[in-house]
Amino acid sequence: MRRKLYLETFGCQMNVLDSELVMGQLRSQGYQATEDRDSADVILYNTCSVREHAEQKVWSRLGELRDRKKNDPKLVIGVIGCMAERDGADIFRRHPHIDILCGPGELDKLAGMVHNAVVTHDSTDSRPARQVALMGANVRRSGTLAAAEDRLELLDLSRSVGPADEVAQAYVRITRGCNKFCTYCVVPYTRGPEVHRPPGNIIDEVRRLADAGSREVTLLGQTINHYAYEHGDGRTTTFADLLYQIHEATPHLPRLRFVTSYPRDFTDGALRAMRDCPRICQYLHVPAQSGSDRILKLMNRGYTAGAYRDFISRAREMMPDLCVASDFIIGFPTENEDDFAATVDLVRFGRFKNSFIFKYSPRPGTVAIDRFSDDVPEDVKRRRNKELLAVQQEVCGENNRAMVGKTVRVLVEGESKLVSKQAYPSAPTPGGVELGWERPGAETSRRTQLVGRTTGDQIVVFDGDITQKGQLLDVRIVRSTYMTLFAEPAVKDHMLVNEAF
Ligand code: SAH
Ligand code: SF4
Ligand code: F3S
Repeated sequence: MRRKLYLETFGCQMNVLDSELVMGQLRSQGYQATEDRDSADVILYNTCSVREHAEQKVWSRLGELRDRKKNDPKLVIGVIGCMAERDGADIFRRHPHIDILCGPGELDKLAGMVHNAVVTHDSTDSRPARQVALMGANVRRSGTLAAAEDRLELLDLSRSVGPADEVAQAYVRITRGCNKFCTYCVVPYTRGPEVHRPPGNIIDEVRRLADAGSREVTLLGQTINHYAYEHGDGRTTTFADLLYQIHEATPHLPRLRFVTSYPRDFTDGALRAMRDCPRICQYLHVPAQSGSDRILKLMNRGYTAGAYRDFISRAREMMPDLCVASDFIIGFPTENEDDFAATVDLVRFGRFKNSFIFKYSPRPGTVAIDRFSDDVPEDVKRRRNKELLAVQQEVCGENNRAMVGKTVRVLVEGESKLVSKQAYPSAPTPGGVELGWERPGAETSRRTQLVGRTTGDQIVVFDGDITQKGQLLDVRIVRSTYMTLFAEPAVKDHMLVNEAF
């Protein structure tokens, strides 16, 4: 009988992709994915450490499993991803019933570790089958970085892209890790140093996905526009080069996006690539974090609010229809009303398509927790959070009202109930199944309310036929709310513009 595997994913798109890759490897070893945790033989949590709340969710999941493990000692439980790397042995201390700890930099070993744990339980008693793979803090100093890079490349290369795989919307990694060390952030410690993947491998992966029917590929990196691959013979492939090369190699891919951009590293070349390549989306996610220069300095972001504004203006000059999304942390240590007012100003100036707003969460191991006390009271954080959200909603309302009457091209994602709100990619995804996307072309004709997205990632709802899923359609915006644009067909019978992107 095939063993059943339950995998729940928390955190960012990197984790979603990692989950897909490890799931592919485990499937090929005979494991069967299940969404029913209670009937699973192996339970894995792919975890996130970015805010305390993200970790708490996993701690409570692990607590829930304590009794089950007592009754079912052969059950294999694993914690993988950023929390495994950050909390390490502490997880074993709090939950001795856990078998596997595997950091994001070691996931190529996971399939073997799961196998070992299963075999150990089968052949022995009820002791946990301890399997540990963490890169540890030393990786930044160690000479084994190159070896780790090669190994990890194998994980990405192992991706199975076959006719049965769900590829309508896919992620492709171009860099791993981060070197920025923003003072509040755990990512450089959990994901390790920044490593750029060879362009040939990236292009090949995007091409294989497009061949298999991908409609949209999103390139991933923590500071993606910092991409630069040194070939070793003096040549460098820049981020702009990479965008042009992927675009050229995949004429059958309707849409190419990338996240997340860092405000400081954007070259005119990369902006030109976005402007010149019609299938690269007019969308940037470029977190500002704060509008106050004083706070930006304490965060070690390396730019001023003025420089951020200049960047947005420069980008909009080149691409008038560009949609920009941002992130903000409110209640960073010492943030006062003036600092907050500067952030509010920046949200108005930026006319963001949406902003993800987070309350500062002190993270063990970061510079900020050692250097500053978390001195903005919770109720002040809450009020500022609410105020900033209200300003952003006002901006969203204005942006969306200005769209009414315009004709836009949308990529149809499916029925509108599937994608109802703009969630930061950190919502848990039960059973590892994620996104509102379904396989295009799998359904028989049925009228329904559809949801699609513009190239700027705006959500558009309209009536259509379910068989239009995965198609590009021109629709005319007739009504708006701050979250959603409502449309009707721009051309009678939703004329298919699929071939003309
Ligand atoms: N690499 C991306 C962001 C990765 S983390 C970038 O630098 O743009 C995603 C978001 O979580 C960040 O943009 C930030 O707004 C938020 N975040 C990170 N650490 C946080 C913390 N300690 N408390 C609250 N929010 C945090
Ligand atoms: Fe974290 Fe800053 Fe790196 Fe983003 S750029 S992942 S916020 S350290
Ligand atoms: Fe979380 Fe790790 Fe991503 S900490 S945001 S899962 S890189």
